[in-house]
This record gives sequence, C-alpha cells and structure tokens, in this order.
Amino acid sequence: MSSYDVIIIGSGPGGYVCAIRCAQLGLKVACVEGRETLGGTCLNVGCIPSKALLHASHQLHEAEHNFAKMGLKGKAPSVDWKQMLSYKDEVISGNTSGIEFLFKKNKIGWIKGWASIPEAGKVKVGDDVHEAKNIVIASGSEVSTLPGVEIDEKVVVSSTGALQLGKIPKKLVVIGAGVIGLELGSVYKRLGAEVKVIEFLDAITPGMDAEVAKTFQRTLKKQRLGFQLGAAVQGVEVKNNKAKVTYKLRKDDSEHTEDADCVLVATGRKPFTDGLGLSELGVEMEERGQIKTDAHWATSVKGIYAIGDAITGPMLAHKAEDEGMGVAEVLAGKKGHVNYDVIPGVIYTHPEVASVGATEEQLKQAGRNYKVGKFSFMGNGRAKANFAGDGFVKILADKDTDRILGAHIIGPMAGDLIHEICVAMEFGAAAEDLARTCHAHPTYSEAVREAALACGDGPIHS
Ligand code: NAI
Repeated sequence: MSSYDVIIIGSGPGGYVCAIRCAQLGLKVACVEGRETLGGTCLNVGCIPSKALLHASHQLHEAEHNFAKMGLKGKAPSVDWKQMLSYKDEVISGNTSGIEFLFKKNKIGWIKGWASIPEAGKVKVGDDVHEAKNIVIASGSEVSTLPGVEIDEKVVVSSTGALQLGKIPKKLVVIGAGVIGLELGSVYKRLGAEVKVIEFLDAITPGMDAEVAKTFQRTLKKQRLGFQLGAAVQGVEVKNNKAKVTYKLRKDDSEHTEDADCVLVATGRKPFTDGLGLSELGVEMEERGQIKTDAHWATSVKGIYAIGDAITGPMLAHKAEDEGMGVAEVLAGKKGHVNYDVIPGVIYTHPEVASVGATEEQLKQAGRNYKVGKFSFMGNGRAKANFAGDGFVKILADKDTDRILGAHIIGPMAGDLIHEICVAMEFGAAAEDLARTCHAHPTYSEAVREAALACGDGPIHS
C-alpha cells in the first residue's frame, strides 16, 4: 500500500492542475486516471480537439471566401477528412503527452485505473488500496442524454463521436443551440454539410447577453446555419444509417420531423461520479447530481474535496483549473480562493463570442443603475483590413461609480480580448481606467478601449 498527502481522482484540467500545484507546494501527490491518456475530456475529446477542427475548417472558409479578395488566386483547397482527423489526433497526443511530461517533472504518481473511495483516507484502484491524508474528486462530467434519443456514436453522436465521424455528413441535425452545438455545427457547415440546429428555447446560447445572442444568431444565419427555435425534440429514429428527428413546436404543439445523415446531441452535460461510492460514504449531493462543497471545496465528509464539473458552477475547464489551484493551496495550509464573479466564457466560432460578469438582463433584474458603452468592430481599422468588422464590444458599468460590472464581445479574437476586462474587473477598475490606458494601434484591443470610452465622454471612431 502506498501513501500520499493527496490523491486526486481524475486528470482533466481540474485534476492535473491541482496535482501540479500540490507538488509545487511540497505535497506528495498521485493522480488516478482510467483513460489511456491524461488530460480528461478537455484534452482528449473536448476543448482541444474541437479547437483543432475549428482552426482547420476556418482556414478553408478563409480560402473560399476571402483569399481572392486579397489577390490570392487559385482553387480553394479540398478537404482530406482522414488527414484532418489525424492532424486533430496529433494535436491531442501532443497535449496529453505534455501533461505526462509535467507529471514526471513534478514527481506526480499516475495511478492507472478507475478509483473508488471505500472510506475517507483510502482510494481503491483495481485490487490496490492507496492511503491519502486528503482526496480531491475531479471526476468531471458526461453527456446528458435526452429521453427517446439513443446515442450510438455513429449516426446519433455526442460531442465525442462528432470529433471522429467516418465521413463528413451531407446533412447534420444538431439538438441544442449551446456551446457544443454551435462550435461543432460551425465546423461541419464550413466543411460542406447542411446544418440545422433545433433548440428548445426561443433564443440560442441561454444565459448569454440577449443583444449579443441575437447578433450571434444573425451572423450564424449569414453563414447559412439553419435554426428551429422553440422546439422540443421528442425522439430520433435510426433506419439504414439515416436518422429522423421528431420535434414539437412549443407555441402550438405541432409535430414535425427532420431527416439527417447524422444527429449531434448537444443538450448539456452532467456530473460524472459513478463508481466512486459517494452515497455509501454519505457525501452530500446537490439536487442536480453535483457534489456539495463549501467555499473551500470541502465535501460533507472530512478529508474529501471536490472541484470542477463534478460540483456546481459553469462547466468550464478554466473554472476547474482555478479550483484545482485553490484547493491545492488550502491543502498546503495556504488561502486558496476563486473569484466566481470574474470567470470568462468563450465560444470559439467565427467570429468568437466572449463574456465576463453580468449580462444586461441580469443587471435589469437586479434593479442596478448601469450604463452601456458599445463599439462596433466596423470602426476598428485592423478588423476592417482583416474582413473582421462584424460584431461589437459592449461594456456594462455602474452608472454612479463607473465600476465595470460585465463585458460581452462578439468579434475577432473575442476570446483573447475579454481578458483585459477580466483583469480590470479583478482589480475593481472603472471603465475610465480602461479608457485611459494606451492601447497599441492598430489592434483589435482598441475596440475594447473605445467601448470603455463609450461609457464616458464617447468613443473616437464612431
Ligand atoms: P449547453 O447547456 O451549453 O446547451 C444545451 C442546449 O440544449 C440549451 O440551449 C438547451 O436549451 C438545449 N436543449 C435541451 N434540451 C433540448 C431538447 N429536448 N430539444 C432541443 N433543445 C434542447 O450544453 P452543451 O452545448 O451540450 O455544452 C455542455 C457543457 O460543456 C456546457 O456547460 C458548456 O459550457 C461546456 N462547453 C464549453 C465550451 C467552451 O467553453 N467553449 C465548449 C464545449 C462545451
């Protein structure tokens, strides 16, 4: 039996970051992972592979739509799907082996297999029982399925199957206009598929600032993604490798069908805690299946902690990473902390969509006195040169104090631009602080500054 200061269950962004920080803080640490490779959903079948396919398909889109305008003549490249998938696989293995290297460098033990917790202080993997002063559960999440829809990962796929389809479908139906549906829907649209997205609600990307969501849907429609909103999917029937999706319109209960070569089910994810033995241990759970924790990630059982998708909050890799670092600090006797008010969210479509803090709807509901500073990328020289003038930056600030309360961006590099606003919010900055900061010209970031200027005396370029 081996014994450790900390055993972490799961090596996704929450678990592996926690392991590295524990080791850096002088704790003897091991991480249990049942997959063949480290990195969890994010590196193996999530964030990273989807970004590879988004990148490749975006290059094709640029060649088809913008090259000739810049004097780059000739036929746009054709798609070698097998090669694109092997590029994606190489990206995955480069990243997962990178984590393996970091584990070795930091002397972190990798216990291979699936873990259960027979009692606090003990982790069982196969026939071996390991001892740990503290256990951190970072077991992540799994696809949440719909009644009447059976995922076979061939014709009816989750995001996992959608990253390794045998061929590019002629017609793809996506169930759910959330992050996964729109990112992967964009990939296959750019690669030539007809794509129709069926969404239960009357708007795409629930929870997003409504003005941004509206612009986002308009932009995706221009890219010829089809939408059926306000529709509840009832079931999917598969015959001869073809699917028929049945849905009911919520406004009048009328039933409709949509044929497809492939159906992507992207209706959310749920915490994955199967097989850990949590109910036998008496670990308290939330109503929706998440592990209940206090502000320092402690569960109701002493010595057992939980982070990431397995607990409440947005299911985002970077939120899990921050919690991983935070709990490592707590276990090392330091003060771990995560500021949940400043967690950015990004959708990696083209253009990208990014947000942090409150939406306008949330501020209205809370009765806050706020002002809006908005700036269109049409007024940004760099964006215009790069055919990236669609979209805007919107900063919400307190009307009296000018303190930034939230920001929402749709446009080029939105996922990177959002971070200067995150830093500003972390420091409790006013919009004027951003507005008075010199921004290099010509950069997309000037649009952020202009939106901050729009919270005060006004932007220059609109
Ligand atoms: P989601 O929660 O973002 O969206 C699911 C959508 O499905 C919602 O709009 C919902 O209204 C709709 N829906 C539910 N039942 C339906 C039905 N019967 N018929 C039609 N529509 C229905 O979930 P998604 O996209 O599956 O993503 C899962 C998680 O993974 C999310 O928490 C997301 O934040 C995370 N993720 C984040 C990424 C990023 O940060 N770029 C990338 C991929 C995933």
